[in-house]
Amino acid sequence: MAFTQLPLPYDFNALEPYGMKAETFEYHYGKHHKAYVDNLNKLTDGTELADKSLDEVIKTTFKDASKVGVFNNAAQVWNHTFFWNSLKPAGGGTPTGELAARIDKDFGSFDKFKEEFSNAAATQFGSGWSWLIDDGGTLKVIKTPNAENPLAYGQKALLTLDVWEHAYYIDYRNARPAFIKNFLDQLANWDFAAQNLAKA
Ligand SMILES: [Fe+2]
Repeated sequence: MAFTQLPLPYDFNALEPYGMKAETFEYHYGKHHKAYVDNLNKLTDGTELADKSLDEVIKTTFKDASKVGVFNNAAQVWNHTFFWNSLKPAGGGTPTGELAARIDKDFGSFDKFKEEFSNAAATQFGSGWSWLIDDGGTLKVIKTPNAENPLAYGQKALLTLDVWEHAYYIDYRNARPAFIKNFLDQLANWDFAAQNLAKA
């Protein structure tokens, strides 16, 4: 069965009032994300990997020198779907409930978390991702290069920000810090993060 590109959880123009243009989604979702799906299907067509779940493909090809292309495309398919869900119109603000309590416990405060997350996103050299994760019961911020993700590392992802240049160049040109600030102020989907935290 071929791997598919899941629909965006909102319209292309839904985030325009919150700092991300429809043009960003025309390229980032319509071209970059789609290309990862198409490449993954080309690379796995006719192989035993074609019948595995996307999660299984990512876990089984990570660190396999003969499957670098499969891993990179599979992980980028997963990462982008996770990223679209990490954004929502009129997001940002502060989390509530269990997630807020866990952030306070493990980072000291929500402001400390924001500082750590912003720093990870700003200092990921070149292409990659910044993540809030649950690592065996402790919430942490990590950054990953290229396509690597918490799923491959055996950790649970809660929220992510794509810091590949293609993620912000249309809206922010080279100003990655402005893109990061806007994500935390207006886009971060804390409901999605809370749902991920609650998953077994
Ligand atoms: Fe991306």
